[in-house]
Amino acid sequence: MLDQSIQELESRSLARIASAATLEELEAVRVDALGRKGPLAQAGKEMGKLPPEDRARIGKLLNSARQNLEQALESKKRGLDSGSLNARLDAEWLDVTLPAPGPRRGHLHPITRIQRELEDLFASLGFATLDGPEVETEYYNFDALNIPADHPARDMQDTFWLDGGNLLRTHTSPVQVRGMERLGPPLRMIAPGRVFRNESVDASHEHTFYQLEGMMIDRDVSVAHLLYFMKTLLAAIFHREVTVRLRPGYFPFVEPGFELDIQCLICGGSGCPVCKQSGWVELLPCGLVNPNVLRMSGIDPAEWNGFAFGLGLTRLVMMRYAIDDIRHLQGGDLRFLEQF
Ligand code: PHE
Repeated sequence: MLDQSIQELESRSLARIASAATLEELEAVRVDALGRKGPLAQAGKEMGKLPPEDRARIGKLLNSARQNLEQALESKKRGLDSGSLNARLDAEWLDVTLPAPGPRRGHLHPITRIQRELEDLFASLGFATLDGPEVETEYYNFDALNIPADHPARDMQDTFWLDGGNLLRTHTSPVQVRGMERLGPPLRMIAPGRVFRNESVDASHEHTFYQLEGMMIDRDVSVAHLLYFMKTLLAAIFHREVTVRLRPGYFPFVEPGFELDIQCLICGGSGCPVCKQSGWVELLPCGLVNPNVLRMSGIDPAEWNGFAFGLGLTRLVMMRYAIDDIRHLQGGDLRFLEQF
């Protein structure tokens, strides 16, 4: 009777070992069959009660059952161990032959792009590109441009004054002066750059924006020359015919002075926030260089004259890409910038 139950226990346990899927299941089988309170241990304790003629036989049976189960447990355990190792290796597998993802490429800001385009265009017309400081002296930003301290035109541009009397340039026109001083006539130059105005910000006003200054000094320069260059400029910028109008404009450093407006390309002239509902956008103030300005920079106005213009680069970008709020341009929002 005992013989049979030992054999049954052994074969039942071997079957459970074979079908165990995890180390936990396997351990449960071990405890059930071989544990201190398990049937084999129990039977071992009761050996003493057996009739002597049975003891040796039952003892052998118990031993071999124990050995068989221990062996089966051991080899199954090894199998499960390496199985979980394989699972781990599977999870950690990676294809080292895959090409690495490249670095994410950025692109130029739309203002930089238009600036470079215009630099190329003007280079082809014989204009040098000059640079000037963003922190300027009162002399270059105002006085040398025929705007003395008591002149009401100083109020036309709200200025960020710095400690010590310097200022953030309110326009790129001081580079005209630096160009005249350094290079002298004849002169063809442009000066793109950042300018600053102390004014409240809205859809069409920023405290920081971009201009592109231009100046040509030669003999017998006339308004006709000015118009030729301005038309060439606008055609290159917009790749199409744009409607323009010329109004008299006042700037102390040009005489006569003009405001060249273009019909708003955002609303087509019907009125929107960018054109302040007027249908026109002030894009290009210009004029013939005031003789006082030439004189202050050491150029004889009897011999030389010229034209100057100050293109609003920021506004130009807004026209070209139909951007209806100037604050997007310097806002740093990638969702905006990634559209270009
Ligand atoms: N500097 C002027 C401004 O910013 C623009 C300008 C430049 C006008 C050159 C005439 C000639 O308002």
